[in-house]
Amino acid sequence: MATNTKDKTDRPFLSDIQELRRRAREHMEMGAVTSAYKADREKVISILNEVLATEIVCVLRYKRHHYMASGIHAQAVAEEFLEHAKEEQEHADIVAERIVQLGGEPNLNPEGLAMRSHSQYVEGKSLLDMVREDLVAERIAVESYSEIIRYLGDDDPTTRIAMEAIMSKEEEHADDMKTLLERLGHEETKS
Ligand SMILES: [Fe+2]
Ligand SMILES: [Fe+2]
Repeated sequence: MATNTKDKTDRPFLSDIQELRRRAREHMEMGAVTSAYKADREKVISILNEVLATEIVCVLRYKRHHYMASGIHAQAVAEEFLEHAKEEQEHADIVAERIVQLGGEPNLNPEGLAMRSHSQYVEGKSLLDMVREDLVAERIAVESYSEIIRYLGDDDPTTRIAMEAIMSKEEEHADDMKTLLERLGHEETKS
């Protein structure tokens, strides 16, 4: 309704509603992306594809660590690795969905995956090595995601909010790995 386009001080807070309706019908092929989208869409898609690669590499690394830790009878640690692998997979799915919403294509090509990823795939020999490498990878993710969040600012709030939720999970992961590292380090010095 036209009266809704003005706030209590009679200052327009929305574009004219007729104009808004007209614009919504334009470029329907863009789906969720409207003229209110202020970010550089191509650039955001390419950043999100790097995040996607980072998450997939994290899934693979945690899975590898899960199976190797199971082999050395560290059941509790193995379970923690598996839980993280599942959460990294959820992050990958959120990011891939957002890429599609923005009109892009998720890059899941295994070729170049490690190059596109911010964090690395390090196998680690001992349990302690694995946990240490996971902590490093989480710290890389936290740092690069916080840069992405700052870059997005108010230009793409939906992507920013998704990245904030993912980053807070990575902070939890880093904290989990730090706790494990301390516990394992402690056990090592005892034995
Ligand atoms: Fe993640
Ligand atoms: Fe993580």
